[in-house]
Amino acid sequence: MTSANSVFQIKTIHEKDLTGQKRDQLVQWFEDEFGYIPLKWAEPQWYVLAFNDSELIGRVGIIDRLILVADQQICIGGISGVIAKNEWRNNGIGKKLMAEAVKAIKDKLNVCFGLLLCRKEVSGFYEKLGWKVNDFPTTFEQPQGKMVFPNLTMTYSCEGAFFPNAPIDLNGLPW
Ligand SMILES: CC(C)(COP(=O)(O)OP(=O)(O)OC[C@H]1O[C@@H](n2cnc3c(N)ncnc32)[C@H](O)[C@@H]1OP(=O)(O)O)[C@@H](O)C(=O)NCCC(=O)NCCS
Repeated sequence: MTSANSVFQIKTIHEKDLTGQKRDQLVQWFEDEFGYIPLKWAEPQWYVLAFNDSELIGRVGIIDRLILVADQQICIGGISGVIAKNEWRNNGIGKKLMAEAVKAIKDKLNVCFGLLLCRKEVSGFYEKLGWKVNDFPTTFEQPQGKMVFPNLTMTYSCEGAFFPNAPIDLNGLPW
């Protein structure tokens, strides 16, 4: 049963502290939600998870990465696989997960920039939370070589920090 008054709990957890079963559940959920995408993805080091009692109802992965922005090295938290369970959507879970993910980027990774890759249809969700579209191409590594991301790249900057609007090299696998 879900409603605007639904109560849910948010937990930030290192991937090393996940049970094998929970890790498999998170990977499966990512594949079920986004379908088969023929790319090799980076594994998150951290997860922000939403629960209703013991039921997993939301997830975000966080990747610790040093990227290159116009050849300048910048440490960022990469946000991956933002999902609220279908029947729980529009209850503020996505917003709360993203707020906790930004907090984890600051507190656990000790960095002040976030970066995510997304489809145009969802960019409005992130824009409402202060994320900005980067206007330049984003490249990343795949086993067959470098590729350019075909959709949007969005970045988040902590108060007082400025993320350059310039070409980005993820310096590894995408998320
Ligand atoms: C995107 C998603 C995580 C949002 O989660 P949610 O729990 O439904 O979002 P919230 O209830 O916290 O919504 C927060 C705000 O964003 C808005 N919003 C939600 N989805 C939106 C979208 N696709 N586009 C624009 N705004 C959106 C809500 O209306 C709400 O606005 P308000 O604060 O003015 O009331 C969820 O719809 C989802 O899991 N989608 C499928 C997976 C997906 O596409 N993830 C993104 C991958 S890049």
